Amino acid sequence: MNIRSFTIAGLSAALSILAAPLHAEGDAAAGKNKTAMCAGCHGIAGFHTAYPEVYHVPKLGGQNAGYIVNALKEYKAGDRQHPTMKAIAASLSEQDMADLAAYYSGK
Ligand code: HEC
Repeated sequence: MNIRSFTIAGLSAALSILAAPLHAEGDAAAGKNKTAMCAGCHGIAGFHTAYPEVYHVPKLGGQNAGYIVNALKEYKAGDRQHPTMKAIAASLSEQDMADLAAYYSGK
């Protein structure tokens, strides 16, 4: 590893630690970048589900951000039972949840 890439890696690690508390509210732009793994089932924000007639998937676009975060936490904690959503929520950090919620709630 050369010294330059080492410095950049160290700097971005330091920046992400500093940035985390600032974005605790959820960043819709960051959330948009995380929707790739949701869009197949929940459709694109804007109230369209991918296959409403084949597969019942709740609408996310326009829902309250707090509701979305709570739902994801409940799946992660096992308080809500749905195998796919549990697996997906388990892979999300609290920041991911806040960002996704900010995006889907349209803020
Ligand atoms: C494989 C399909 C699939 C994928 C991918 C998926 N979901 Fe879901 N999601 C579902 C289904 C089905 C439900 C309803 C489960 C239930 O009945 O509890 C659901 C429920 C939810 C709920 C609760 C909605 C409500 O009205 O209570 C939220 C929030 C949610 N998903 C967010 C996400 C997010 C964010 C992602 C991407 C990180 C994602 N989902 C990816 C299928 C999926």
